[in-house]
Amino acid sequence: MILGVNVDHVATVREARKTFEPDPVMAATLAVLGGADGITVHLREDRRHMHDRDLRILREVVQHELNLEMAATEEMVRIALEVKPDMVTLVPEKREELTTEGGLDVIGQKDHLKEVIKRIHDANIPVSLFINPHIMDVDVSRETGADMVEIHTGLYANAKGKRREEELHRVRESVKIAKRQSLAANAGHGLNYFNVKSIAEIEGIRGLYIGHSIISRAVLVGIERAVREMKELIKKP
Ligand code: PXP
Repeated sequence: MILGVNVDHVATVREARKTFEPDPVMAATLAVLGGADGITVHLREDRRHMHDRDLRILREVVQHELNLEMAATEEMVRIALEVKPDMVTLVPEKREELTTEGGLDVIGQKDHLKEVIKRIHDANIPVSLFINPHIMDVDVSRETGADMVEIHTGLYANAKGKRREEELHRVRESVKIAKRQSLAANAGHGLNYFNVKSIAEIEGIRGLYIGHSIISRAVLVGIERAVREMKELIKKP
């Protein structure tokens, strides 16, 4: 099971002061030291967290799977072809959203996605589609020529009780159909230390892509040491 760690939030903290720290590239190398199999970054149209420079440096530094999450726009395709990540995950993108809120409209955008995937494939870069856990969306993903799908686990993560079971079932079924269609099946969004196990146990799943909960935990488990080091520095002789 692959763990791809999304380090966008590190850049979000940096951008809160428009300074040089914390550096998402350093975070990525430490994540790899911790066992991450890959690093994911979402280069958004408004560059609110990751910048083009971050992506270029990450391409040089990350020897593991570098996954570029991006909208299927002309600008992003051009950047992907230039930087050559190890894989591209196509996601829908709205300026006003806090995070990627839903899967791609693969049915409505089928022809456009097909064309974009072909261009990315011409550069030998595999493509994953971030989709809702609907059987129809998995079927159409296959027709676009994508190599992989990433099943959106956001609804599962937010649901409680019986609803959660239903959402888990949807994710499970989507993975099953994807495998049947020879599509590699990943999952991600909203996964955390409490809800990840049921998803990780799904038969045939290739990898999980997680950001928010890992970066959140990193802040908490690191704060004690950070304060201790500052106290040490300001201590009078
Ligand atoms: N997968 C995709 C396609 C995403 O857009 C995101 C969020 O950037 C994630 C996974 C990670 O989600 P989270 O930050 O909730 O773990």
